[in-house]
Amino acid sequence: MSSSPTPWFLEAEAERIAEAEDDARTIDLDAIDPVSLSLFQANAQDPYFRRLREDDPVHYHESSRVGPYWSVTSYEQIKFVDTHHGAFSSEPVVSLADLKDDFPLPMFIAMDQPKHDRQRKVAAPIVAPRNLQNFEAIIRKRAIEILESLPVGEPFNWVEDVSIELTTQMLATLFDFPHEDRRRLTRWSDVATGSPGTGIVESHEQRRQELTECLEYFTELWNERVNEPPKFDLVSMLAHGESTRSMTPQEYLGNLVLLIVGGNDTTRNSITGGLLALNQYPQEFDRLRADPSVIPNMVSEIVRWQTPVPHMRRTALEDTRALVLEETLYVDGVPHAPHGARRHAGGRQDDSRGGEGRDVVPLGEPRRACIRERG
Ligand code: HEM
Repeated sequence: MSSSPTPWFLEAEAERIAEAEDDARTIDLDAIDPVSLSLFQANAQDPYFRRLREDDPVHYHESSRVGPYWSVTSYEQIKFVDTHHGAFSSEPVVSLADLKDDFPLPMFIAMDQPKHDRQRKVAAPIVAPRNLQNFEAIIRKRAIEILESLPVGEPFNWVEDVSIELTTQMLATLFDFPHEDRRRLTRWSDVATGSPGTGIVESHEQRRQELTECLEYFTELWNERVNEPPKFDLVSMLAHGESTRSMTPQEYLGNLVLLIVGGNDTTRNSITGGLLALNQYPQEFDRLRADPSVIPNMVSEIVRWQTPVPHMRRTALEDTRALVLEETLYVDGVPHAPHGARRHAGGRQDDSRGGEGRDVVPLGEPRRACIRERG
């Protein structure tokens, strides 16, 4: 692998990143806009995040496509925000853009306590370690089948044929969703996160209509399962859960969207970004092939390296700038991560070796984290 010539797209990528590095070093801090879509489309975000993290980790951005906001880019401050819920709320949304009032999608990720924890408890067992162990055989079988079905010696679409296919098959299993219709889950995930103008839907009306179809489909599944004994799939769990069984249809849809997007967008982007990283760093690919025992480290490292969650929003409920700075002083007094590794959040370090000893926040810190964390 390391002896093959570098493919053209990797050369172009390296050139783009070098340009971004130069620009990020000298650009005025106020001109950096970490929510700019084009930054991510060009995969050029990292040097700008690094610059913010180093020069002003709590920075005020006066204007952007989502209006004015503070960006918080260092490990300590993110951890602080993530663990001070009284001051930093997840309501009304954790995505950047403000809500469109005419189609609210209440979901537990965007709720504060106590409702957040009650609803989370209903869904979390689906990804509890024991259950994931039960899934291991089927995940392996599907991964092998998908990889074996790929054409040899001709181009194919990795995102479509591998990342999306494997992710969607597993998502269908978690919902006990009809396998033959599984690509509808992929579509609903894309529609839920895609606003008009991004190539997914033409209008808000189309988005609303397609998500209403999602609700109708899942309402049938709910109606079938609510009168049966509880089963271990997400629809049955929501239909029987004490804090979810009386949800309004819109709240059911909101939580479905959370679980569909949470399960789909993240995993498929990790699989794709991980493959790209192994191609960008063929020496790491060689190391991996020589010693498959590094795979668990590689997985954590990929989630950190190619984080599929570029931003999380919190809404400050009080004047928190003084609070954050105070806590930073305190946190800075504590020794940094083991082996002298610099703590950081998002962004990347310069090598892609195992994450052992690193202290990073790709999946969220305690109190607010992926349902995979903390059971
Ligand atoms: C590479 C894979 C994944 C990454 C990097 C990831 C990342 C995250 C992060 C950072 C959060 C916290 C959001 C916050 O701060 O409010 C989160 C929450 C969540 N994720 Fe994931 N996730 C992944 C896979 C999944 C999967 C496979 C599912 C479902 C099957 C899922 C479902 C959820 C749910 C339901 C929440 C909300 C939890 C809560 O509010 O308590 N995620 N995820």
